[in-house]
Amino acid sequence: MSTRNLWNRYARYFNAEEGIVFPADQPELDLYAQIRKEHTGTCLEIGAGSGRLAGSLHGHSVTVALEPSDSMLAGWKASDCGLAARVQGTGERMPFRTASFPLVCFPYNGLQCVPEEEIRIGIIDEAFRVTAPGGVFLLEVSPVFARRDSEPLTERYNANMPDGTRLVLKEKVERRRNPDSIKYHMFYTTTDRGSETTEVITLDLAVASRYQMVTLLKNAGFRDIIEWGNYDRSPYDDELSPRLLLLAVKGI
Ligand SMILES: C[S@@+](CC[C@H](N)C(=O)[O-])C[C@H]1O[C@@H](n2cnc3c(N)ncnc32)[C@H](O)[C@@H]1O
Repeated sequence: MSTRNLWNRYARYFNAEEGIVFPADQPELDLYAQIRKEHTGTCLEIGAGSGRLAGSLHGHSVTVALEPSDSMLAGWKASDCGLAARVQGTGERMPFRTASFPLVCFPYNGLQCVPEEEIRIGIIDEAFRVTAPGGVFLLEVSPVFARRDSEPLTERYNANMPDGTRLVLKEKVERRRNPDSIKYHMFYTTTDRGSETTEVITLDLAVASRYQMVTLLKNAGFRDIIEWGNYDRSPYDDELSPRLLLLAVKGI
């Protein structure tokens, strides 16, 4: 199944989880808002989803939200639609001119959601192409996923939705070595006035080590790469950091 079809099916669950089942992560929103203030000029968010970061990435100049999935694009709140110019498209074939954006971001493990290595390389090469000379690219991944082992089917949550339905997620984790990836088999059961339906979504997340990501960025042409281990910009530590944020410069 193509990534776009997967996200078309997954959108309603992803969007329910972000902000309804689990609270918003304020330090994340604050970091993206701060980065946006530090880098004025046009901004591009790759894999912008349903605009969760639109408020943070809104600035005085235009912010472009690039997203392949129809359902993720349809999930934007009316109040966020004026904050960014939404463009349907993929990171590996960006419909933008070379050197257009002083700030380019690919947040929240978006790159790991692309299972094919050659497409991940293509996205980083494209990010380099569209970044303006002297501009920066911010990439967020989670190397910690690689430490996760296979897990049996387990209930993750059982939550009431604002529309009166109930959503239950049961998940099985499958750690694979070739290709190096983590497969999440997610069983979403919706109960609506006594009637129950289950949808199965499988998300294949690529492993992303610090070394792999730095190499990918350098091969694309980026330099002066800063590595943070969390949204507070603390230095990255392979054992302790919950995530990896890489800020890379395109030379002039
Ligand atoms: C984990 S979600 C993050 C969405 C949003 N940035 C957020 O933080 O809520 C990853 C997003 O990347 C998008 N995506 C998947 N493959 C992509 C590709 N090849 N190019 C650009 N975006 C892609 C998905 O459709 C999805 O919306």
